Amino acid sequence: MPDDHFGEPVAAGYDESEADMFAPPVVEPAVDFLADLAGDGAALELGIGTGRIALPLAQRGVRVHGIDLSEAMVARLRAKPGGADVGVTIGDFATTKVDGTFSVAYLVFNTIMNLTTMDEQIACFQNVAAHLEPRGCFVIEVRVPALQRLPPGETVRAFSISPDYLGFDEYDVVSQGQISHHYEVVDGRLELHSVPFRYVWPSELDLMARLSGMRLVERWSSWNRESFTSESNGHVSVWEKVTDR
Ligand SMILES: C[S@@+](CC[C@H](N)C(=O)[O-])C[C@H]1O[C@@H](n2cnc3c(N)ncnc32)[C@H](O)[C@@H]1O
Repeated sequence: MPDDHFGEPVAAGYDESEADMFAPPVVEPAVDFLADLAGDGAALELGIGTGRIALPLAQRGVRVHGIDLSEAMVARLRAKPGGADVGVTIGDFATTKVDGTFSVAYLVFNTIMNLTTMDEQIACFQNVAAHLEPRGCFVIEVRVPALQRLPPGETVRAFSISPDYLGFDEYDVVSQGQISHHYEVVDGRLELHSVPFRYVWPSELDLMARLSGMRLVERWSSWNRESFTSESNGHVSVWEKVTDR
């Protein structure tokens, strides 16, 4: 089982520290997008967390099931209104099987990057394909790697600098590793928290989809279906499970 980076201390402050991501203008376009793809079928969320997307999607009448490693995150989901009605399986979303098939599976907020090897990311696509109905869709929201901002020869880039918080990304361009280091002053003490990721290119995700019997059908720069261009910092991509081969 992979390491759990969303244990009790992170889970306790998640909704507050990510408050911007819970704002209706952020959540509603994602829920609209996913509800359209779900249609009359069910949805599977990989890394369901505290239910930021799953709960409003379930409130729209979509049956949602989630997978997550973190008991602490899922406890927050279950404590919310409607949370007890969303099924959750505790496990690694790259390998965990759940009952039933789904018209849409989704993995939002850069969470594919929590799988820190290419093999794990491929396994995730293959696991999703095994859970999708024919022509079912897999949706990923993830940033485009920010390597154009890394000067040649450098491995570290600051993403946040303020008097009581410093954040640095440390890159390994060989393994596509990206460790986010957070230095925060809490009650007058400096706390360090580091989380490993693997950055992944859009074209690489398309190849993983192909290896898993899926093909790209949509790619946008946002849930509002704005164009994806060479300037885009992130993307929302949809792959469909191929049935004609
Ligand atoms: C950034 S949070 C996103 C939560 C939620 N989807 C949201 O948008 O707010 C990532 C979530 O994925 C879970 N997670 C990370 N890696 C995982 C893995 N390999 N298997 C299952 N869950 C994982 C974490 O426990 C955490 O709840």
